[in-house]
Amino acid sequence: MAVRVAVLASGGGSNLQALVDACDAGRCAARIVLAAADAPGAGALARAERAGIPARLVDRGAHPTREAFEHALDAVIHAHGADLVCLAGFMRILSPRFVEAWHDRLLNVHPSLLPAFKGLDTHRRALETGVRLHGCTVHLVRPALDDGPILVQGAVPVREGDDAATLAARVLAMEHRCYPLALDLLARGAVRIDGERVAGAERGRLLVDR
Ligand code: GRF
Repeated sequence: MAVRVAVLASGGGSNLQALVDACDAGRCAARIVLAAADAPGAGALARAERAGIPARLVDRGAHPTREAFEHALDAVIHAHGADLVCLAGFMRILSPRFVEAWHDRLLNVHPSLLPAFKGLDTHRRALETGVRLHGCTVHLVRPALDDGPILVQGAVPVREGDDAATLAARVLAMEHRCYPLALDLLARGAVRIDGERVAGAERGRLLVDR
């Protein structure tokens, strides 16, 4: 039986779409059973509805504390029987408590080649730094920000004349390739998590866009 996955998003949901498409096409041994957003109007919810996936709003603004919000989120995830949770453009920092409860079952995609450029505004910072190579990382989530065992990285060139928008678009296209691959590795049991590193025959997947 396919691994059941809940996807949490705050934005447009293009990564959610990439995961749904890969699962539908048989490229990812998982089934998306829930899309949840933390704010009304998240494009991800509309995408989920179009794809026939249960879409739930767990509105951060409707909960007085982060604890109450996370409790509601956890309840929705469990109600849909999810085994794994994928953060896909989810713009809330989750508490150590939530993260530990989903230890090794919580994934994130970050728009940089970690450990470079943790946090926000990664594309502008990459351009300012003058790196020639940028990209994205799919990793297991740990309590520290943008930290955790790396499943897949995707590298893209920084081109002459790039601005943050053109670079972001190139990285986002790479995210759409890396996230389904990372989820598939985990869902198939093709990798194992050895403390803070990913091990197994298929560990260390790297995609490169020249
Ligand atoms: C992605 O670049 C993700 O890495 C970042 O936010 C963006 C979300 O895009 N944290 P989408 O909502 O999946 O289209």
